[in-house]
This record gives sequence, structure tokens and C-alpha cells, in this order.
Amino acid sequence: MTEEIYYCQPVFRPPSEAYSLLIQLTEGCTFRCAFCIPYVRKKFVVRDIDDVKRDLDIAKKIYGSNVKKIFFLDGNALVTPTDKLLEVTKYAYKIFPNLERCSVYAHSKDIIKKTDKQLRELSEAGMTLAYVGFESGYNELLKKVNKHATKKDHIDASKKLMKAEITLSATLINGLGGGNNSELSEKHALESADLVNKICPDDDRIWYIAFLTLMIPPGTEIFKERSKGQFQEMNSTEILQELKMFVQNIDFHNNNNAECIFRCNHASNYLPIKGILDREKESILSTINYGLTHSEILKPEFYRGL
Ligand SMILES: C[S@@+](CC[C@H](N)C(=O)[O-])C[C@H]1O[C@@H](n2cnc3c(N)ncnc32)[C@H](O)[C@@H]1O
Repeated sequence: MTEEIYYCQPVFRPPSEAYSLLIQLTEGCTFRCAFCIPYVRKKFVVRDIDDVKRDLDIAKKIYGSNVKKIFFLDGNALVTPTDKLLEVTKYAYKIFPNLERCSVYAHSKDIIKKTDKQLRELSEAGMTLAYVGFESGYNELLKKVNKHATKKDHIDASKKLMKAEITLSATLINGLGGGNNSELSEKHALESADLVNKICPDDDRIWYIAFLTLMIPPGTEIFKERSKGQFQEMNSTEILQELKMFVQNIDFHNNNNAECIFRCNHASNYLPIKGILDREKESILSTINYGLTHSEILKPEFYRGL
């Protein structure tokens, strides 16, 4: 009988982990955000480390030395106790000679709960990238969507990651506050820009900020609110206006070292955008302005997804 790597479906990974080996370290997520569907039906579990190692062994037989990147599933795998994270990370590097990085999704609170020493140990063992869902820098909105983190938590978590030399890749959600509320949208854009401005390091390390655009899958709290008429989705123009306000307010104060890779290239986005903040701010704004005046180039609704 062929041995198979275990997955608790459905599994989700960041777009940039498309060619990575996916290994189920945890199942589900310890948080319940109002916009998130992936993990709602999964009971949260940290898997037995021997089972995880067995999956790594099976992967070794299938992919041999081709494995260069590993993404440890699921929704906030960094919540795993550090000794277990270290054990699986070290084991992965031991058996895959060409492994270049291991990465995880991490909630800001998971990062804050780890000590600087623990994060440094993880980074040195090769857990060198964490995907953190900021969603917004506006505390009211973070509370509304049940994020269980504040703007300060996001700032503290980002600084801790950077101190430990773990690369930060953070996501925000365009349209999160919904339409028909320009004040909320403005606060979301301005406070999110301020959050990103505040975490900009003064060295030339690479860090990533990405905007996804709100999707409302059945089963989410936001879906229920929309069904009751309590939430109205933004249209593509409102989405781009909100994004424009965010970019206009990015200001790294002439920090010429800043290498913040900015992307809106997720399946949920109407307009693909890529550039470096804040150096390429003007060309990013030109792309957004073009999208605002040429709606025919925007992704049709039926092509959008998570
Ligand atoms: C799978 S989630 C894991 C997040 C992780 N637990 C954390 O707190 O950082 C990854 C990211 O996908 C994005 N996301 C999830 N559901 C979404 C939705 N309905 N619309 C847009 N983006 C969404 C959010 O930015 C979220 O942080």
C-alpha cells in the first residue's frame, strides 16, 4: 500500500507557497474571525509530532531532495509549543538537504506570547518566514471582525519577528468594513497606513505587505450579517478608492533603505498591483488610478476567489 501524506481538508496556503511542501502540523485555528471560513468546521489540534515526522519521511520518499520550501499548516501553526516547532523544523532540515525555508501562518498574539529567545531559536533552526493577518490597523474594525488583536499587537508582533530575523509577510483586507460607510473605510485606510509606517525598519531587509479583497463565503459571520442586511459589500470603485487612500498615506520618512514589497496579486483582488513601498508609491498610485478610470480591466466578479 502506498503511504500518503495526511491532510485535514480543506487546506489553505499563501499564494507564494504554491510550490512548497505542505505539512499538516496543526488542524484548524484557535481564532474565529468574522470573515474567515477555512477552519470553522475543524476542531483545533496540534498533531502528534511523530505523526508529523512520519509525513516528512513520506514526502522525502516522494520528492527526495527537490523540497526547497515547507509550509506548516494550518491557520495559526505558530501557536504550536516552541519545542515541538523546533523539533519538526530541525527534522525537516535534517532529511531535506536542499531545504531553504520553513514558514507558517501566525496570529499577532501567537508571536507576542513567544519570547525573543524562542523566536530567535526558531529563526536559527530555519523557521524564517511568518504570514501574519493584520487585516486592518483600525482597532474598532479589528474588534468588529473578532480579530482578537489590536494595532499595537500588530506593531509589537512585527517588531519581535524582525528582531528575531524572521521575515514578516502581513496581509490586510480591502473592503473589510463594508460599503455605505465612508468614515469607516477612511479610518481603515488611514490607520492601516499608519500601522505599516510604524513597523518600517530602518535597515534594508525585505518585508511584505499584501492586500486581499474581502470575499464573503457562506458560513462566515459577515455572510450572516449580509443576509440580515447588516453588512453591505463595497463595489470595485469603493475598493480601489480605499486602497488609494492607504497608499497615499504611506510615508517612510525618506528612509531610502526600505524594501517593503507591496502586493495585491491574490485571487480576491480586482486589480493586480506590485511595487516597493514607499519608493514606488507614485507608480502604484498610477496603476490604481488607471483601474479607477478603466473598469473594463478589472477582474470580473466570477473570477475572484480565496
Ligand atoms: C488563512 S488566514 C490565517 C490567518 C492567521 N490565523 C492570522 O491570524 O494571522 C490568512 C489570511 O487570509 C485572509 N483572508 C481570510 N479570509 C478572507 C476573506 N474572506 N476575504 C479576504 N481575505 C481573507 C486574511 O488576511 C487572513 O489573515
